[in-house]
Amino acid sequence: MKICIILGTRPEIIKMAPIIRECEKKHADYFVLHTGQHYSINMDKIFFDELKLPQPGYNLDVGSGTHAKQTADMLVGIENVLLKEKPDIVLVEGDTNTVLAGSLAASKLHILVGHVEAGLRSYDRNMPEEINRILSDHVSDYLFAPTEKAKSNLLSEGIPANKIFVTGNTIVDSVLQHIKLVKEKSDVLKNMNLKKDGYILMTAHRQENVDVKNRLKGIFDGLKIICKEYRLPVIFPIHPRTRKRMEAFGLKETEGIVFTEPVGFLDFLELESNARLVLTDSGGVQEETCILNVPCVTLRDNTERPETIDVGSNMLAGTTPEKIRDSVRHMISKKTNWKNPFGDGKAALRILSILDKMS
Ligand code: UD1
Ligand code: UDP
Repeated sequence: MKICIILGTRPEIIKMAPIIRECEKKHADYFVLHTGQHYSINMDKIFFDELKLPQPGYNLDVGSGTHAKQTADMLVGIENVLLKEKPDIVLVEGDTNTVLAGSLAASKLHILVGHVEAGLRSYDRNMPEEINRILSDHVSDYLFAPTEKAKSNLLSEGIPANKIFVTGNTIVDSVLQHIKLVKEKSDVLKNMNLKKDGYILMTAHRQENVDVKNRLKGIFDGLKIICKEYRLPVIFPIHPRTRKRMEAFGLKETEGIVFTEPVGFLDFLELESNARLVLTDSGGVQEETCILNVPCVTLRDNTERPETIDVGSNMLAGTTPEKIRDSVRHMISKKTNWKNPFGDGKAALRILSILDKMS
């Protein structure tokens, strides 16, 4: 069986890494197709280098653009590669435009589609990711749901039970595979003069947050209150989308917030696992903080990761400064002994075993 692994952004590289490793281990007939949705060194190459992943067989270099242009360029490029390589199955991961283009191109060519991290729903169609998730799930043949909750979302949309496999999320595999390396390889705390529990970590990049001036300003005003109240620096490795928007909206860097370029996965895991608390609108970061037993406040009004709220690792704060302050007050004083709901770190192994059975 020939497998095509399609990826294009930072989180897809991190979450597909365990599947790529499993393919290597099994000497599977596979290749990686990179759409080039992310291309800056610190959003792309750094992860292939650090995670010691083989170079993709193809890179479409589509780069940035409107949703239509970016998705359309990917569709055309992916179709060309699939026609040439004729894989039996295409694997996509998550909810980006890369995932939509990959699953759509493959299904129209009658190539099987396996969706890793299927069944997540925020029930908020303002998010481009929600559209991508729903469409990709509905053209997929193998839906690798990370949790029972994700499976029940799929069943409630009429997807047949025999297409759904609860495997856990490959982010657990990835965290467990890399956390041991972190102590050895990451000097980020020393270089930034930080100590365990001596700072708050922050990320933000959601289109519906950072492209809206009032919401981005609300987040920044919330950060200022937190810095003052806890006398802790906020470390903010800033996503390129957010950097661009800050500049466009004339939002200045403020005292107490340490803006850095995006960092590699090992440095980010080190920053996350030693932070007093994490503020984020990222999907992957909500999961990782839950896995690492670090409290999280999510700067959104909803989440497609409700398991984190249920176990008590995460709280929704939206983007108003007072709600952010109150959520931080609540989460910072909480016990962090919750149990990770995203699996045992063997999701990639399970996914490959399921595929083995079909060949
Ligand atoms: C994309 C995904 C989002 C995911 C995120 C992970 C979609 C619709 N969005 O959002 O679901 O959470 O990736 O980080 O697929 N840019 C660079 N260098 C890069 C990549 C982007 O400078 O390597 C800048 C460009 O100005 C670009 C902007 O960031 O216009 C947004 O990039 P894009 O890939 O369109 O969306 P993300 O916000 O990264
Ligand atoms: N991440 C990283 N460096 C950073 C910020 C995040 O390596 O500076 C990692 C983080 O550990 C997580 C992933 O990027 O695994 C999350 O990606 P992102 O927030 O861009 O996307 P999302 O998960 O929201 O789709």
